[in-house]
Amino acid sequence: MSTLLLSTCICSLVSLGLQTSLSADTLKPSQTFVQGFTLISSNQRFEFGFFRPGNGLGGLYLGTWYHNLPLTVVWVANRNKPLRDSFGQVALDEKGALFLFNRSMGAVWSTDKIPTMDSFTPVLQLLDTGNLVIRDDGGNRTIFWESFDFPTDTLLPNLKLGWNLDGGVNRIIRSWKSIDDPSEGEYSFCLEPHEAPQLVLRSGSKKLFRRAPWDGSSFSGITSLTTNPLFQAAYIYNSVEVYFQYEMLDDSILSRFLILPSGLIQYFTWRVNSSKEWNLLVTINSDPCDNYGKCGNYGSCYTLSSCKLFSQYHKSNTMLFSFPRVGSWFS
Ligand SMILES: *[C@@H]1O[C@H](CO)[C@@H](O)[C@H](O)[C@H]1NC(C)=O
Ligand SMILES: *[C@@H]1O[C@H](CO)[C@@H](O)[C@H](O)[C@H]1NC(C)=O
Ligand SMILES: *[C@@H]1O[C@H](CO)[C@@H](O)[C@H](O)[C@H]1NC(C)=O
Repeated sequence: MSTLLLSTCICSLVSLGLQTSLSADTLKPSQTFVQGFTLISSNQRFEFGFFRPGNGLGGLYLGTWYHNLPLTVVWVANRNKPLRDSFGQVALDEKGALFLFNRSMGAVWSTDKIPTMDSFTPVLQLLDTGNLVIRDDGGNRTIFWESFDFPTDTLLPNLKLGWNLDGGVNRIIRSWKSIDDPSEGEYSFCLEPHEAPQLVLRSGSKKLFRRAPWDGSSFSGITSLTTNPLFQAAYIYNSVEVYFQYEMLDDSILSRFLILPSGLIQYFTWRVNSSKEWNLLVTINSDPCDNYGKCGNYGSCYTLSSCKLFSQYHKSNTMLFSFPRVGSWFS
């Protein structure tokens, strides 16, 4: 047992030594890392490694946060399976699966197995977008797994909230249980149903509100939701996938949507090199009209206080909303 631990430690140290001489945004199958070591995206925006949330009394988690900002976690690998002590080890195997091991080298969390091919050389990389990917380091660099397919409570720019039509992936965000506990909380936010996709907030299985991510007149291709020069959101529907996604057009502004443990969905920004804290720009569901069913089956809220009938749209039990005041978020 002690021999095993010793060899593990030596292996880690060797790997750490190797790692410093390689690009620090990637991990190769011959390398491992433990608490204290992280991957940093090449643009220095994101960091992947071990963290202890909130008051530090809970478990140890593996995840991604913003580099050089007060701890703001954007993704958690083992949200429901914390490490109970201070030891965890990350390793990518030769077949391209990522593992999180505990002290006794039990696999606490791992990615799914990837269909293997002869010429596959896996590498783990933290991309500039905050997406952690496992890709082929040779050949055409095909991505086989990505953390953006398994979001936790945060929607980052370019993350696709929605699903692939082959049924392989459905990306939803779900709140933390509390600000100190990343495990799955009560609230989720997703795109559903398949026939007429809308953004839906749920508490458990109960629908709280829904909001169509498009104006109702266009149901295919790309519908741009705003002409704002900084923020661009789109609902995309094609033969392969259906999703909602947004983009930040100014590279010096970090932004994220977060679903809080309280169920609020908030949008925050941070100006690189000038902000001292996250700027809350909008709370999506603070409007009383947002409560599901408030305006009746055909009702739709257009302003903060009034409900209007939207009778042109016939699909029963469906409400359409325009994405509200997006253009004014930055004014
Ligand atoms: C390590 O993980 C394995 C597999 O999940 C588990 O059976 C074992 O109890 C864990 N050991 C510790 C010390 O947590
Ligand atoms: C990349 O390579 C993989 C495996 O060799 C192959 O399945 C895939 O079609 C290739 N993708 C492109 C875009 O060439
Ligand atoms: C922020 O500051 C760093 C270091 O001075 C600089 O390299 C970087 O370009 C700055 N970024 C922006 C967006 O101003």
